[in-house]
Amino acid sequence: MTMTAPPISVRSGVPAEASARLVEWVDRIATLTLPDDVVWCTGSAAERDGLFRLMVEQGTLIRVNPELRPYSFLARSHPADVARVEDRTFICSADEADAGPTNNWQAPEAMRTTLNSLFAGAMRGRTMYVIPFSMGPLGSPLARLGVQLTDSPYVVASMGIMTRMGTEALRLITDQTEWVEAVHSVGAPLGDHEEDVPWPCNDLKYISHFPETREIWSFGSAYGGNALLAKKSFALRIASVMARDEGWLAEHMLILKVTNPRGRAFHVAAAFPSACGKTNLAMLTPTIPGWTVETIGDDIAWLAPGDDGRLRAINPEAGFFGVAPGTGRSTNATAIDTIWGNTIFTNVALRDDGDVWWEGLTDTAPAHLIDWEGRDWTPAAGRPAAHPNSRFTVAADQCPSISDDWNDPRGVVIDAIIFGGRRATNVPLVVEARDWEHGVFMGATISSEQTAAAEGIVGTLRRDPFAMLPFCGYNMADYWSHWLTMGQRLRATSTVPRIFQVNWFRKAADGSYLWPGFGDNSRVLEWILDRVDGRLAAVDSPVGLVPMPGSLNLTGLEMSDSTLQQLFAVDADSWSAEADATEEFFNEFGDRLPAALTQQLTTLRERLHNV
Ligand code: GTP
Ligand code: SPV
Ligand code: MN
Repeated sequence: MTMTAPPISVRSGVPAEASARLVEWVDRIATLTLPDDVVWCTGSAAERDGLFRLMVEQGTLIRVNPELRPYSFLARSHPADVARVEDRTFICSADEADAGPTNNWQAPEAMRTTLNSLFAGAMRGRTMYVIPFSMGPLGSPLARLGVQLTDSPYVVASMGIMTRMGTEALRLITDQTEWVEAVHSVGAPLGDHEEDVPWPCNDLKYISHFPETREIWSFGSAYGGNALLAKKSFALRIASVMARDEGWLAEHMLILKVTNPRGRAFHVAAAFPSACGKTNLAMLTPTIPGWTVETIGDDIAWLAPGDDGRLRAINPEAGFFGVAPGTGRSTNATAIDTIWGNTIFTNVALRDDGDVWWEGLTDTAPAHLIDWEGRDWTPAAGRPAAHPNSRFTVAADQCPSISDDWNDPRGVVIDAIIFGGRRATNVPLVVEARDWEHGVFMGATISSEQTAAAEGIVGTLRRDPFAMLPFCGYNMADYWSHWLTMGQRLRATSTVPRIFQVNWFRKAADGSYLWPGFGDNSRVLEWILDRVDGRLAAVDSPVGLVPMPGSLNLTGLEMSDSTLQQLFAVDADSWSAEADATEEFFNEFGDRLPAALTQQLTTLRERLHNV
C-alpha cells in the first residue's frame, strides 16, 4: 500500500481538547483511508441538525411527518445489511485458545494485513467523522472512554443518541487515560463525480476485535451492532476482556428498579439473548397493583463490586436501539410513549400519512403502506411490511419510566440477577438457583431459539450462555470462571445477588404461548423479589427452587390449573437429554471448563434420577 501525505483537512479543525495520541491516530487512519474531509464531532444540536439535513438531501433518511412525530426519520438499509453478522465477527487474540471454541478466531497479524488492504482508500469521496464518547456517566469510576472513526453520517447520528458523545467526552480523553480505538467504514469509496446511494455498504464484511490492544475494526456494514461500535463491540466484546482483567463484569443485561407495595426498592439485572425481551422487561408496566417498575438500561450492564462490597451496575449506554415489531400500546406502552419524536427508525414501514408502522404497532395493519424496502404493500402482500429486525433509536432520557438512578455514577446495588431465553419447551416460567454456583450453571447452560437480530435461521435452538454467545470477547470457559470468582469475592465481603431463570416463551401443544407475558411478567418479578425480601417459601425441583403452589400471584388472570402445570413441568427424560447436550457442550472447552460446572451437571443428573 502506498502512503500518501494526509489531505490538508486532516490537521485543520482539530479541537484544542484533542490529545496528542488521539490526533496522531486520527492522522494515521486518515492517511490509510483517504477521506475527502475529517470532521470532529462536538455533539451539538447544530451538528445533529446538519447531519439530518445532509442525510435527508442524500436520500439516506426520509423525514417522518413532523406533525405526527416531530424530528424523526426513517432509514431504509440495503436489503442485505439488516442484522448483526456473527459469522463475520472475529476475535483476534494473540492466542487462539483465548478466543475459545465459541468465537471466530483469526491471527492478529493476518487480520491486520487483511484490514490494511481493505481500509486503504476505503473512505475516498466521503467524510471521516471523529466521534469521542463515554460509555457510562461522564467521569463515573465505572465509565470507560472510546473514539470511533466512521464514514457513515447515519452512524454518527445514532452514536449521538446511543452514547454520551462529543466535546465533554473528548476532554476526558487524554494521553494519560485509557480509551478504545474503533475504526469503521461502510467500505464503499466514491469515485470522482460518482453518485452516492442511500445506504452504502459492502458485500464483504469484517467486524474485528483485538482484545489485547482494545481495538475494533469494522468494515462493510452500517447496521446496528455491526457499525455502532460502542455497543456490542466495545461495551461487550472489548469490555468483557477489560472486565476480566480488572475484576468486573460486562453483560448483555437490562437493569431495572422495582418498588414493592411496601415501598422497598430493588434493582434487578437480567440477561436475555437478542430479541428475547430485555427492552420489554426494562419498560414493563405492571398488571399487579402497588408495584412500580422503572428503567435504567435495556441492553447492556457493567457491574462491579462497590466500596461496600456489594455488586453495583451502570448502564453504559445513553439510548435504546429497540426491536420495533411486536412493540405496541398493549405490549410496551412505555416504548410507544418514548418514541413520540426525536427518533430514528430503521427498516420499518411508512404510512400514507407519513408516519411509521410495523407489525404489532396496531392490531390491524393500514390498508396501504410502503414497506421497508420501499415497495407498495397491502395486507394481502404475504410478507411483513417492516423487517423483523427493524429498530427504533431513541435517547434513554426520553423514556417516561426512566429511573432517577439511571445516571448515578456509583451505579445501583443489584439485588437479583435473572437469566432468560426463548424456549418453547422444558424451561419453567421461573426457577431460583440454589446458590451462586448453581446460578452460574443456569447462565452457562442457556439455550434459546434464534431470532432475527442476527443473520441465521430464525427458530433454531442454540446455546447462548449468559446471552453472551456472540458478545464474549474471550474464552467462554474463562468467562464462567470469572463469574465464579466474582461470587466468591462478593460473598467474602458482603452478599451475592440471588439468581433466577425465567422463560416467557413456553408453548402449549397447539403452538400458543402458555404465559401472557409483557406486563404480566410483573407477577414473576413479584415472586422473585418477595423471595429476595424473605417473604415467600419455595419448593425444590430437580432444576432449582420453584414457587410453592398458590404463591405465584395469578389474581385477575384466567389461567387453568393445567396451563399452570404445563408452565412448571419438569420432564425427567427431556431434562436428561438436556444434561447430555450440556455435557457435550461443556466438553468443547476441555480443561478450561471450571470444575464447579462439572459438579453442577453431576448434581442435576442425580436430582433428575431421584424424581
Ligand atoms: P435486543 O435489542 O435484540 O437485545 O432484544 P431484546 O432482548 O431487548 O428484546 P425485546 O424486548 O425487544 O423483544 C423482542 C421481541 O420479543 C419483541 O417482538 C417483543 O414483542 C417480544 N417479547 C418481549 N417480551 C415478551 C413476552 O413477555 N412475551 C412474548 N410472547 N413476547 C415478548
Ligand atoms: C442485539 O442483537 O442484541 C441488539 C441489536 O441489541 S444490535 O445492536 O444490532 O446488536
Ligand atoms: Mn441486545
